[in-house]
Amino acid sequence: MAKPIAILSSMDQEICMVEERLDNPVTLDLHGHRFVSGSLNGTHVVTSISGYGKVCAAATTAAAIYEFGVGAVVFGGVAGGLRPEVDIGDVVVADRLVQHDFDASPLFARYVVPSLGKALIEADSTLTEQLAAAAERYIATRAGREIVDVPNGMFRVTEMKLHRGLIASGDRFISNLAEAGSLLGQFPDVLAVEMEGAAVAQVCAERRVPFAVFRSISDRSDQDADVDFMSYVSSVAAPLTAGIVEEWTLALN
Ligand code: ADE
Repeated sequence: MAKPIAILSSMDQEICMVEERLDNPVTLDLHGHRFVSGSLNGTHVVTSISGYGKVCAAATTAAAIYEFGVGAVVFGGVAGGLRPEVDIGDVVVADRLVQHDFDASPLFARYVVPSLGKALIEADSTLTEQLAAAAERYIATRAGREIVDVPNGMFRVTEMKLHRGLIASGDRFISNLAEAGSLLGQFPDVLAVEMEGAAVAQVCAERRVPFAVFRSISDRSDQDADVDFMSYVSSVAAPLTAGIVEEWTLALN
């Protein structure tokens, strides 16, 4: 039998609509951490909410690998835009990830993860391709119908774009332009910043488990980053995350 695929996010609101759409869901409590096993368009998936930040993301990813034997990990949710072309409402699929707050220098070059011997961790190309195609289809065919409540007119659904490239992760919510600018100074091609993806990447790369990360841009990592954050997550990221995962599993079977 095929191994299940883990579908993870950091917040309940990001993944709740995925869980609602599972066939035959079974909820399991593992030492106080909740997982839901079920089927989505014929694909066996295991969902879980990691919590915020790299430690939570790494722990949940490791639990999914060791306790459920997942064959791949997909992490979805929101991120702050960094490159100027990445607008609120856009979708970013990571092809590489970096921990922008990892620094074991002078023992190792800044950002380099010693166990991997590199700073930039590549996502699985097949999974990433499939998720980007699913995001493209979701934006073109369903976003207009399903994203009905855009808080404060933050963006136009008809203008959503898809980007692929570098995502940076760290244990900080970036909410000022000085810090956003400093991240861009360190990684000139970084598209977005969030708090979990590169930790998932490290755990999966160390264990040779394919993984992919996709993000919906909730803010521009500036002083307004927190203003509409929660309403964006519920009104936009929830249907978008579920829609992309659904489109992806539909194409698998
Ligand atoms: N997730 C969503 N927006 C973010 C930001 N500005 N910084 C870090 N993580 C985020």
